[in-house]
Amino acid sequence: MVFPEYRPRRMRQNAAFRAMIRETRLDAAQLILPVFVMPGKGLRETIPSMPGVLRFSVDELVKEAKECLELGVRAMILFGLPEKKDGLGSGAYNKNGIVQRAIRELKNKVPAMMVVTDVCLCEYTDHGHCGCLNGQEVDNDATLELLAKTALSHAEAGADMVAPSDMMDGRVSEIRSVLDEAGLYKVPIMSYAVKYASAFYGPFRDAAECAPQFGDRRAYQMDPANTREALREATLDVEEGADILMVKPALSCLDIISHLHDEFDLPVAAYQVSGEYAMIKAAAERGWIEEERVMEESLISIRRAGADIILTYFAKDMARLIRQTRD
Ligand code: PBG
Repeated sequence: MVFPEYRPRRMRQNAAFRAMIRETRLDAAQLILPVFVMPGKGLRETIPSMPGVLRFSVDELVKEAKECLELGVRAMILFGLPEKKDGLGSGAYNKNGIVQRAIRELKNKVPAMMVVTDVCLCEYTDHGHCGCLNGQEVDNDATLELLAKTALSHAEAGADMVAPSDMMDGRVSEIRSVLDEAGLYKVPIMSYAVKYASAFYGPFRDAAECAPQFGDRRAYQMDPANTREALREATLDVEEGADILMVKPALSCLDIISHLHDEFDLPVAAYQVSGEYAMIKAAAERGWIEEERVMEESLISIRRAGADIILTYFAKDMARLIRQTRD
């Protein structure tokens, strides 16, 4: 059927037709807001490279969680800024560490908020790498034990889900078995299965003060040029017991998201990272793009590619927009 019998514009003629045939929608329940938590009281700090994103002390984070819930954002992922750092990242698995304190307080004061935790050492090591070192190299197997301890301490504090982002080989099975041995079999693992060594993480490293002090992360994070390797990484994480597969970054990896959606039957998450957020904010500040429309279009594209869940610094803004357009 060709023109003039078939005219695609017929179905675009007004808002009601467009809404009726819209293939992809966003729901606030699919969004996870990444948050930065730091020691202190009554504190909210701005982050220059991420306008609109704040670092919260635990008490302020509780208020933020309540605000999120009111908007329909039901999950947060926590990143911590510890009091001090050391070679082994001990702040990551300290029972009284900043993230552990935040989890307890959130689950106590705002139990309906789903608390997800990022499991990694880079915010806690003085060298800024995601594991402990052997010389100049990140020691994979020695790191596994520390990651599992970190995940366990989060789950024991009440975390609803843990999300390892370190990219060590074998971390999912190590974490799964330690959680299961402790009887914490109900805590799912959202694995950063496909995490590229990306320049889009720049602003996050300012926000979480976790830039590597030497070298880079290319010996453990993936080469952005690789697709087949992404499938291998995802296959391994499935076999090791992951419950959700994450792709990161999002907008530069829509093809990878789509592959994972087609090849696997686990839910797929995508992380719209700090650099993606900062680019939209910066261009909007200059008046070069319309922030709200670009935010929505980028998030819809990530959904269309096949992500069921999106981690985004825009979670609250997007939830607000969803609410407005519904009213
Ligand atoms: C920790 C971690 C990073 C991000 C999430 N978890 C930084 C990194 O790997 O360098 C990046 C998130 C973002 O850029 O928004 N390993």
